[in-house]
Amino acid sequence: MINIAVLVSGSGTNLQAIIDEVGKGHIPAKIAFVLSDKKDAFALERARKAGIETITLDKKDYKKREDFDRKIIERLKNKNVELVILAGFMRLLSSYFVREYRNRIINIHPALLPSFKGSHGIKDALAHGVKVTGVTVHFVDEHLDNGPIILQKTVDIKEDDTEETLLERIHKEEHKAYPEAIKLFVEGKLEIKGRKVKVKYEVVRR
Ligand code: GAR
Repeated sequence: MINIAVLVSGSGTNLQAIIDEVGKGHIPAKIAFVLSDKKDAFALERARKAGIETITLDKKDYKKREDFDRKIIERLKNKNVELVILAGFMRLLSSYFVREYRNRIINIHPALLPSFKGSHGIKDALAHGVKVTGVTVHFVDEHLDNGPIILQKTVDIKEDDTEETLLERIHKEEHKAYPEAIKLFVEGKLEIKGRKVKVKYEVVRR
């Protein structure tokens, strides 16, 4: 059973979906801790309620991004964490962080990458007038919302959608897609070849 850690900044609905799936035994992993860069993130409440250790780091206490990241890496290594899950963690990771955990950091983005990168994926897709958007789970590299894609799910945009109504449907897909991707990683079923991620599904013999 591997140790995983979840990094958050906000409400933590994705964290909740992960906690629930780990709790049901669907993902064979232990959540070592939940770390937030915002002390009032509701995600921390969710973690505490589930009996998971929480850590809060305040960027004001660190001069450079890398110093902040060094502290996180220290915590991750102390707990032998093998997979870092960004679940609404609204900070760019330094290249130091990415190097230390290369191919072992994953992120979820509320759009079909490479479209609508950044922190307003839903708003930007609506404003652009696309008819289909979705969610992307991907490995994290040195560039914003850029690493190899593990899986994507589509969400149709309706004419009368607002940010709120679309967010609701995006979240529904995220809460299925993220646990699914984490399970694949934890079970050793993901193989990265350049930009491509191959999913090694078992062959069912009849
Ligand atoms: C999620 O919708 C996630 O896709 C988005 O933040 C939200 C966090 O929600 N992440 C990004 O936009 C990253 N660029 P949550 O705190 O309820 O899980």
